[in-house]
Amino acid sequence: MQKDCLNVIRERRSVRDFLDKKIDPIIIRKLIEYGNYAPSAGNLQARDFVVVTTKKDELADAALGQKVIKDAPVVIVVCANIPRSSRKYGKRGTLYAIQDATAAVQNILLATHTLGLGACWVGAFDERRVSEILELPDGVIPIAMIAIGYPKTIPPNPGRIEVEKLIHWGKW
Ligand SMILES: Cc1cc2nc3c(=O)[nH]c(=O)nc-3n(C[C@H](O)[C@H](O)[C@H](O)COP(=O)(O)O)c2cc1C
Repeated sequence: MQKDCLNVIRERRSVRDFLDKKIDPIIIRKLIEYGNYAPSAGNLQARDFVVVTTKKDELADAALGQKVIKDAPVVIVVCANIPRSSRKYGKRGTLYAIQDATAAVQNILLATHTLGLGACWVGAFDERRVSEILELPDGVIPIAMIAIGYPKTIPPNPGRIEVEKLIHWGKW
């Protein structure tokens, strides 16, 4: 059953505990398609997606040994493709490519939750080591690893800062 968009945004949690159940590659492809529906600067889509199922132990080592990477049946490494954006936008293209990739990450997390899967955004990793493991070309930077699986347990909402403390109407 598909869920309402606002509920998906509210209910999505970082899932780190997965069932021992494989994910159909068709679903992974779909998640990436939804990732790439995210906006991008000049619609250049300066992002690439590396799907990892076999090198997870190496990736986990590059990510402070985080168990979530080993335990997830699939890890999608979302990368910023700097040359794809910089060709048009010069120096600013670096920032745009990072934003293009990051927007895709959030779409994938929401799509994952919508389809009844669970995922965790993993950002704590050694960028150079991950680039070596995945043999990324020059200018392609790993931005986030998304560990994905069928959820075994879903953690409680860790809460948010009261939004009134974050809003600055018109000026700081
Ligand atoms: C940039 C970024 C980096 C993150 N890195 C990690 C990480 O390395 N390991 C991890 O377990 N969770 C990581 N998270 C997930 C956060 O811990 C999580 O989103 C936060 O605690 C709020 O929980 P929620 O996603 O369930 O709302 C990261 C999230 C973001 C946005």
